This record gives sequence, C-alpha cells and structure tokens, in this order.
Amino acid sequence: METVVSGIRSTGNLHLGNYYGAIQNFVKMQHEYNCFFFIADLHSLTTHPTPDNLHSNVKSVLVEYLAAGIDPDKATIYVQSDVPEVAELYLYLNMNAYLGELERSTSFKDKVRAHPDNVNAGLLTYPVLMAADILIHRATKVPVGKDQEQHLEMARTFGNRFNRLYNHEYFPEPYAFNFSANLVKIPGLDGKGKMGKSEGEGNAIFLSDTPEAIRKKVMRAVTDSGPTTENQQKPDEIQNLFDLMRVVSTPDTIAHFDNLYNTMQIRYGDLKKQLAEDMIIATAPIRERINDIAGDAAYLSKVARHGAEKSRESASKTIREVREIIGFRNF
Ligand code: TRP
Repeated sequence: METVVSGIRSTGNLHLGNYYGAIQNFVKMQHEYNCFFFIADLHSLTTHPTPDNLHSNVKSVLVEYLAAGIDPDKATIYVQSDVPEVAELYLYLNMNAYLGELERSTSFKDKVRAHPDNVNAGLLTYPVLMAADILIHRATKVPVGKDQEQHLEMARTFGNRFNRLYNHEYFPEPYAFNFSANLVKIPGLDGKGKMGKSEGEGNAIFLSDTPEAIRKKVMRAVTDSGPTTENQQKPDEIQNLFDLMRVVSTPDTIAHFDNLYNTMQIRYGDLKKQLAEDMIIATAPIRERINDIAGDAAYLSKVARHGAEKSRESASKTIREVREIIGFRNF
C-alpha cells in the first residue's frame, strides 16, 4: 500500500482553507492508504512562539484534526516534535541542500520580504525539514495545495540527490496529490488572495468560530458597489464570495445569486447572509466535536502517545537504514 504524508503548521486554529484545501482530502485518503498526518510544530518555531502559545496551538490542531474526521485508528496522527528521527534526517539532508536553491524558493523570498528582521536559517531550510517529514516515511503521495508544489519538487531533489550520492535507490519520489482534479482554492474575505490567518483579522473563518463570529466576518467581507452592466465578469472580491459559496452552498443557491448578479439585481447583504448561514451549517458538526474533544485530556493524550509510537516505528526503521547507507557503523 502506498504511503501518504501531510502536515499543517501549528500556528493557531484551523480555518476553512485548511479544511476544504487539505483535511477533507486527508479524511478520504485514510481509508485507502497508509497515512501519516502530523502537526508541524518544528516548522512553527521559525516565528519564535512562546512556550504557552506553542503548546496551545499544537493542541488546537490536534483537536481540530480529530473533530474534522481524521480517525486515529485508521491514520497515524502525530506531533512532529515527538519524532526526533525527523530532525536527524533533516540534518543529513541539509548536507546536500545548496544555499542557492534554498534562496530561490518562492516561499523563502516571500518570507524575507514580509519579515526582513527575522530571516533565520530555519526559514531558509524550511523545505529541507519538509522533505525530511515526507522522506522519513518514504511516502509517495502528499495531499497539499498548489502553493506547496515547489516544496514537493525540492523534496524529490533532496531524495534523489541522497540516492545518487550513495548510489542506492532508497527514497521514492513524492508527488502532490488531490482527489479532485482541480485543486480547490479557498479565498479569504479581504477580496485578495487565499484564506490565511496571517492575512489579517477577519480574513479567515475558523472551524472553531461561533455562528455569531462567522456572521460578523462574512458581513464585513469586501465587496464593490455592484454590477454596472448585465452578465459582466465579476471582480476578484465578488468572485471570491461565489467561490466560497461553491464549497458550502447548494448549486441552486449559487445559481440563484449568479442570476441576480447577471441581471444587476443582486444585493450583497442577502448573498452574505446566505453565505454565512451555509458556512455555519457546514461547520456545525465539527464545531460541536471541537468542544467535546478539547475537554477530553485523557483522550488527547492517548491519541498523541499512540501516534508518536506508530510514527516512530516507521521513522526509526528509515533512520536505521539511512545511517547504514551513509556509513555510520558500530565498532
Ligand atoms: N509547508 C506545509 C504548509 O505550509 C506544511 C508542511 C510541513 C507539510 N511539512 C510538510 C505538508 C510535509 C506536507 C508534507 O502547508
């Protein structure tokens, strides 16, 4: 059976972008593949969280993975830092990752632009750590969004380079995977790019948001002053609202508002009200489970321990073989 690895950085609560972009795929894949889903807390250290924030963010993601339907009896769910073998493989892969290629990564360049005062080596080698996450289980499929395509290519490069250096076909090539043919892009509410918590207050709808919070955020979403001709192309901020409807509303609802837009009768307030209610309905079961699971410390501790154990079993086998291939030998 093919092995699948994916993770989400623990920087806070999960939002609809994480859910529709990644987690729905995780939930489907867990029935068909040997899946490892982890919480990328080592990656989150690039922004220097406080110990309390680090822990509560990891807890949120763990709770929300479970609430969203990842089943710890089917998939292996673990916290990245519980598996020290990942850090060890990262060290070995770093010897084979070149400064020039790391500096050329678009995500690195974006971070340098956004935070010129915190360009640390962890940020530079972020793709190496991500490659270690994937190669540690010798995975071939990685359910991620389009923005991770370049990181996947780097993971293949580092794995292949290791294989070539030691003349050993050890690491298979990992590829991005998605069940639906066209990768879903979940836009934010600011009228610009994709949903993300770093894009500013109110841009993301979190799985843990109360219905009241969802209504407030959606009502504040950016819109224009309305169409000026019939059947005109929608500007980005309006198209974004329709894109969001596509994931939470029924086809009839979408057709209804599409028609109102095309005939210049649309009232954005009505559209937003409908969108908010549909988001509330779509997330209600998850929200309920979040509250139950978050209060069950014994269950969370059991899931984390079980996941760490299963993950380390797979990771330590790889590390044993990698050390052998590299030439670390006992006397
Ligand atoms: N870089 C990914 C993101 O930002 C998170 C991630 C870290 C990841 N390691 C991974 C995803 C390994 C898939 C596999 O979304």
